Amino acid sequence: MVNVPGNLDLIEAPTKEPERQLFYIERCKELLAASGQMTDEKKLTYHISTFGCQMNFRDSEKLAGVLESIGYERVESEKADLVLYNTCTVRENASTRVYGRIGYVGKIKKEKNPSMVIGICGCMMQEPDEVEKMKKSYSFIDIIFGTHNSYKIAELLYTLLMNRKAKEKNPSLKTHVIDVQKEATGIVEDLPVRYDSTFRAGVNIMYGCDNFCTYCIVPYVRGRERSRKSCDIIREVEELASRGVKEIMLLGQNVNSYGKGLDEDITFAALLDKLSDIKGIKRIRFMTSHPKDLSDDLISVMSRKETICRHIHLPLQSGSSRLLKKMNRHYTREDYLTLVGKLRAAMPDIAITTDIIVGFPGETEEDFKETLEVCEEVSFDSAFTFIYSKRTGTPAAAFPDQVPEDIVKERFDRLLKVVAHSSAANASKLVGKDVDVLVETVGHSLEGGEASDGRTPETGDDAVTALTGRLGNNLLVHFEGRKSLVGEIVRVHIDECKDFYYLGSLCVLD
Ligand code: SAH
Ligand code: SF4
Ligand code: F3S
Repeated sequence: MVNVPGNLDLIEAPTKEPERQLFYIERCKELLAASGQMTDEKKLTYHISTFGCQMNFRDSEKLAGVLESIGYERVESEKADLVLYNTCTVRENASTRVYGRIGYVGKIKKEKNPSMVIGICGCMMQEPDEVEKMKKSYSFIDIIFGTHNSYKIAELLYTLLMNRKAKEKNPSLKTHVIDVQKEATGIVEDLPVRYDSTFRAGVNIMYGCDNFCTYCIVPYVRGRERSRKSCDIIREVEELASRGVKEIMLLGQNVNSYGKGLDEDITFAALLDKLSDIKGIKRIRFMTSHPKDLSDDLISVMSRKETICRHIHLPLQSGSSRLLKKMNRHYTREDYLTLVGKLRAAMPDIAITTDIIVGFPGETEEDFKETLEVCEEVSFDSAFTFIYSKRTGTPAAAFPDQVPEDIVKERFDRLLKVVAHSSAANASKLVGKDVDVLVETVGHSLEGGEASDGRTPETGDDAVTALTGRLGNNLLVHFEGRKSLVGEIVRVHIDECKDFYYLGSLCVLD
């Protein structure tokens, strides 16, 4: 529910989206100009802190797009006029980090800028208990919204600004705006987006998840699986290509089940096939692939099309069929190994990365050893390893035999060693080879990506400098080259492997 004090002339607001939000963008602009808060000389600033996965980062680009259309300017510090926290709740430590930051920004508001707008959104806010906690303990938060209505930021901000105006006349009024939708209602297309990078972009192909793995909170906070129409996706990718974007990352919790529920008859493999023909797009990645839905057609498209990176992120979670069943993953250890065999037979150079959970309830030493065995057999290029985190409301939270912390830690360290060994061994295979690299940034960043203002740091001229680029296998390489190469695909000779990144040299250095 949005608490709007009476007497607001909202009659003319369109009911259809995106027209409604475009209307509120204009109303916010007018309101901020009329109150003298935003003028040609004085811009208001915004800051967004994003936690969690690529989905959240993509949502933040959309939030930023709307805020910049209103006239806000981005700053990196939380000393801004509007600060948004886009939260994650997949594991407990993600939530803990958010609380720390909210405490910090509350102090800035109190001491430096009482009219600051503080908003909190994202996956954590889809949990009613978390919203209650925010309301009770952090009364300085002005706007709370969830994952299903983040497209409404302009409308929510307008409501807050009107509430603040009303409070000037009637100080007893409450101003905060809380609007969390339990379920998603359709997909809103065509609102402004502020892309973080000029040459790489994430593209949502689906939202939500229907898999209900027993440990996972995502289906509860992101809602049911919804695929975007292929024509909307193609249109977006064509638009990105026309703006010079070279690499796209297709995003979904389970991209392999793309197309379910759409009127058109389309699969993920067919979508990839179409996207790979779009001129200008040099690289396509996607995540995440659920092993239970990985089709032969997908393997065939990947091996046929050069633009599709020879990299797949294929979460294993556990190497024990017994635990996989308890996790509700719908595949066995053997199914997983068979898939890996098929992928490698079709593409011997494919990089395979994964996610693994250690300490799922009831995990025995035997189960864990099976996970280690699968890791050794597959020889992953890298693995995100997670300690099981109990999420309230998920079935596994109530499972008996939660594994004691010391045993989990000990297993976790053993797993890290096995994974580090295979990553380093696989990475070193490229030493001495020439590979294609997308130049991402000036400087030797281990993160890659552009400077956080979306541009590369100014070095003045186009002298030879240190560059960082990304290989098809998703690893980074440091080499020397002109800064004008940022955003281009170049050929680099791999001189040395530093386990999880490379040192190289440009094949043609003019
Ligand atoms: N949709 C993706 C994953 C999204 S969450 C998929 O199915 O692969 C990213 C990863 O977080 C998961 O793959 C899992 O390994 C991990 N994860 C999810 N819930 C977790 C929990 N409760 N405890 C520990 N790790 C968890
Ligand atoms: Fe979570 Fe499983 Fe859905 Fe991935 S597929 S988001 S792990 S429920
Ligand atoms: Fe976190 Fe939500 Fe992603 S819970 S991992 S930000 S979908």
